[in-house]
Amino acid sequence: MSADTSPAIELRGASKIFKTPSGGLHTAVRELDLTVGRGEFVAVVGPTGCGKSTTLTLVSGLEEPTEGEVLVTGEPVAGVGNKVGFVFQQDATFPWRTVLSNVMAGPRFRGVPKAEAKERAREWLSRVGLTAFEDRYPHQLSGGQRKRVALAATFVNDPEILLMDEPFSALDVQT
Ligand SMILES: Nc1ncnc2c1ncn2[C@@H]1O[C@H](COP(=O)(O)OP(=O)(O)OP(=O)(O)O)[C@@H](O)[C@H]1O
Ligand SMILES: [Mg+2]
Repeated sequence: MSADTSPAIELRGASKIFKTPSGGLHTAVRELDLTVGRGEFVAVVGPTGCGKSTTLTLVSGLEEPTEGEVLVTGEPVAGVGNKVGFVFQQDATFPWRTVLSNVMAGPRFRGVPKAEAKERAREWLSRVGLTAFEDRYPHQLSGGQRKRVALAATFVNDPEILLMDEPFSALDVQT
């Protein structure tokens, strides 16, 4: 199968077993088969602790499966790449950077010139309604505002695949 027609995401018999602090083993994901086609929008629903976040960390390359395979656009995941954007369940912002600088960070790390990164970041801050907050630091924001910074910081990279772990949990219905 060529990389062009392969699914966006594929897990084949993927398991993740964590070592616990007491020396035991905890199976967070067991033999999961999951295929997500290109252009598909998939929501995973399940009770707390069932392994949703762990599954996303496998797809993102932040964790490796203990058993089985994880492929993104037909290639085995090997560490964190540029194809996948990940909005974490707990919003991850750089506390020492302003809102604007947080949203610029991804493009800057990818080599986008500063002026262009700033322009793209401002565009996304406007789309999430945070234009007036670009000079603030994350601790000076509400939980929902911080979540929107994290969303903007991921969307600004225009990732091929977007993973979002309960991204709207801190937002109200109108937002
Ligand atoms: N690093 C770790 N070490 C040990 N156990 C872990 C680790 N990470 C997660 N777990 C365990 O794996 C299981 C799945 O966790 P996970 O975070 O994937 O659940 P979840 O479905 O995202 O839950 P929630 O809806 O509460 O966010 C849980 O029982 C959790 O305690
Ligand atoms: Mg979770």
